[in-house]
Amino acid sequence: MTRKRPGRHRLPAIAVLLAVALLGGAACGGDAQEALVAGPPDRGAVGLAMPTKTSERWVADGENMRKQFELLGYRPELAYADNDIAAQVAQIEAMIKNGDKAVIIAAIDGTALKEVLAKATAAHIPVFAYDRLIRDSPDIAYYATFDNFKVGVQQASYIAEALGLARGARGPFTIELFAGSADDNNATFFFNGAMSVLKPYLASGALVVRSGETAFTQVTTQRWDGDIAKQRMQRLLAGPLAAVHVDAVLSPYDGISRGIIDALKAAGRGGRLPVVTGQDAELESVKLIMAGQQSQTVYKDTRELAKVAVQMTNAVLTGGSPEVNDTSQYDNGVKVVPTFLLQPVSVDRSNYRRVLVDGGYYTASQIGG
Ligand code: GAL
Repeated sequence: MTRKRPGRHRLPAIAVLLAVALLGGAACGGDAQEALVAGPPDRGAVGLAMPTKTSERWVADGENMRKQFELLGYRPELAYADNDIAAQVAQIEAMIKNGDKAVIIAAIDGTALKEVLAKATAAHIPVFAYDRLIRDSPDIAYYATFDNFKVGVQQASYIAEALGLARGARGPFTIELFAGSADDNNATFFFNGAMSVLKPYLASGALVVRSGETAFTQVTTQRWDGDIAKQRMQRLLAGPLAAVHVDAVLSPYDGISRGIIDALKAAGRGGRLPVVTGQDAELESVKLIMAGQQSQTVYKDTRELAKVAVQMTNAVLTGGSPEVNDTSQYDNGVKVVPTFLLQPVSVDRSNYRRVLVDGGYYTASQIGG
């Protein structure tokens, strides 16, 4: 017979078993047996500060973390800041005031959180950077992300392969470059990873950027906004690309890719679209890949990232030390933040079904085929 204890959450035994399995048992502090009878203890609130709902992935990230924290007996407080930096700072401040045990943050502007995070440290609240590194602050305990440099390598390698460059084709082929939001540390990693592949082809003349816009600062896209990317592409198509066929466009993120494709279609170039890369395997982009319009995306399983972030947080809050696999790449300007890196997967028409549908990320009916 089970007895209800005051102040404890009741969860079905199957949920508790799942939580135990999810975190390998030990992370439950050795009281898994007791949890099976009484439900996990109330481990307190944890704050999850997410940037925006306009990109599908953050919605999935937030939901995945929320569910997993609940299974362990935490009370997750999930907040979205609508890409408004001041709103995100206010949300984190509220989490600190509320006495949350930890805060997990996907920053809007990776450089804007220094002061609020100092308050977290003063209140002994550990801070975890989620997918985006928080810069210029000593107050970050750990960072969970994907191998961001490799994302860029995968995007550029796809272009090199699709144009035949990797097999010795000399071109010249025309390419335009797009990067993400300058205030998001990831944007630099993606761009540097991509350029590590593209630079030799640009140097040899096999690839040519007709706009001449090749520096990171010239090609960034504020807030990863697809409309801004669309406007830039329209400007290029009406100017330096007016009489030029574009063979490839390096795009760092699906929302930007769709803006670029829209601009190409609006300019009457939909019949012979360039190779266009992307990232996040957003549903709309997967459909464009199936339709042969967007060429590629980089899939990052947000379920796995959520799992890593929850494990890290739970380990710290239960007195353990989280597993990390990178202690050199992610210098935030003040310290090298210990990081767990997950692996991204390049997806195109040839493997989207196996990776995304067989892998359970989307159902067949969601992608419509
Ligand atoms: C980046 C993230 C990408 C993409 C982008 C726009 O920080 O690494 O996967 O989601 O933000 O939301």
